Amino acid sequence: MDNAVRVTENLYWIGGNDRRLRLFEGTFPVPRGVSYNSYLLLDAETVLFDTVDEQVADVFFEGLEHLLDGRKLDYLVISHMEPDHSASLKRVLRRYPGVKVVANQKTACMIGQYFGEAPDYLLVKEGDTLCTGTHTLKFLFAPMVHWPEVMFTYDEAAGILFSADAFGAFGALGGSIFADENDFWREFLPEARRYYTNIVGKYGVQVQNALNKAAGLDIKFLCPLHGPVWREDIPSFLAKYRLWSAYMPETKGVAVFYASVYGHTQNAAEILASAISARGVSAVKVFDVSACDPSYLVAEAFRFSHLVFASTTYNNGIFVNMERFLSDLAAHNFGNRRYALIENGTWSPQAGKLMEEMLSSMKGMQKIGNTVKILSALKEGDRAALTALAQAVAADVNENAESVE
Ligand code: FEO
Repeated sequence: MDNAVRVTENLYWIGGNDRRLRLFEGTFPVPRGVSYNSYLLLDAETVLFDTVDEQVADVFFEGLEHLLDGRKLDYLVISHMEPDHSASLKRVLRRYPGVKVVANQKTACMIGQYFGEAPDYLLVKEGDTLCTGTHTLKFLFAPMVHWPEVMFTYDEAAGILFSADAFGAFGALGGSIFADENDFWREFLPEARRYYTNIVGKYGVQVQNALNKAAGLDIKFLCPLHGPVWREDIPSFLAKYRLWSAYMPETKGVAVFYASVYGHTQNAAEILASAISARGVSAVKVFDVSACDPSYLVAEAFRFSHLVFASTTYNNGIFVNMERFLSDLAAHNFGNRRYALIENGTWSPQAGKLMEEMLSSMKGMQKIGNTVKILSALKEGDRAALTALAQAVAADVNENAESVE
C-alpha cells in the first residue's frame, strides 16, 4: 500500500526507507537507515521528480499509481543519475509510456550508458523553464553536487527547490518527513554533516556555486533526495552548507584522533585531551581511528576548528587506519585547520614526519607546536612536552577560533 505524504497543496513525497542497508554506496555505515525521496506534482500536467532505489521501488510505485489515480504521467524530471535515485527509471518508462524525461545532455548520455534507452526527452539547458499549469519549473544546473549531470529544479509558484543530493542526510524518515517535526538539529544534523562531508565534501567550490544560485531564490520548501524535507528555518541549514563547502569549522574546539596498537599512543592522546580541556577548551572529543568508521572521522574533522593526530609508527609508516583517515581527508579537499601531532615508535618513529607531509599538502593547514615524540610508552619525562603542546593548542583555540554553531 502507498505511503505518500502531502508536502504542499499538490506536491507529494512518494519515497521510501531502507533500514536494513548496512553500507550506503557499499562503504558508509548507515545504522539509522536511509530514505530515498521522490516527489510527485499534480498540476494540470503531472511531474515526477526522480525515482528511487530498487529496495524501495514497490512502495514508490504504489504511491505513484495511487496519486495519479488513472491520470497519465506527463514528465519525469531527473535531477541525478546515481542509481540510488535512477534505478527505477526503466520501470517508470515501461509503466508510463509517453512520459517525457526532462533532462540535460549529460543526463541523457548517462541514461544511455545505464539503461541503453533513448526515451522521449525534453532536453533542458541552464535556466530553461517548463510550465505545467499553475506551476513553472526552472532548471538550474549544479554540476558535481555530486555528479556532473546534477540539476536543481525550482518551482517558482510554490518556492520549492528540488535540490538533488544537496541538503540530504543519512537516516530513515519515520513518521513525519519534515525537518521541523524531527528535531533536526539534535536528531539529524550529525548524519547530515556525515552525508555532506563524505558524499559531496570534495566539491566545495561547486557547492558554493550552487549555493550562490540558490541565494537568489525565495525558497519556502527544500526537497532533497535523502533525509527530511524543509519548510522552516531553511537559512540555518543553508548556513551550514556555506561553512562546510568553504571548509570552515563549525565548532571552536579540538578533535583528538589517535591510532594506537597497545594503548600507549592512546594514553598520550587522552592525557593531551585532558590537559587541553583543563586549559579552558570546553569542546574536546577523542576518537580511536581504529574503532570508528572513517566517515564519522571525516565529519568530525570538518566540524572542529583544531585537530590533533596521534599515531604509532607501523611498517615504517603511519598506522594503517590513521593513514586511511588522512587519505580520506585529502581526497575530500579538506583544509583550513590548525593541527598538532603526536608520534610513537619503538625503534624508528616516523609517523609524525609522514603525517605532517600529508597534512601540509592540504590547503590552509597550520601546525601548532612541536610534534611530541614517544618512544614505546610514556614516561614522566614526556609530561613536559605534552603539557607544552596542550598549552599551545588551548591558547590557539582560545585566541583564534570562533564557534559558529
Ligand atoms: Fe543519493 Fe549522489 O546520490
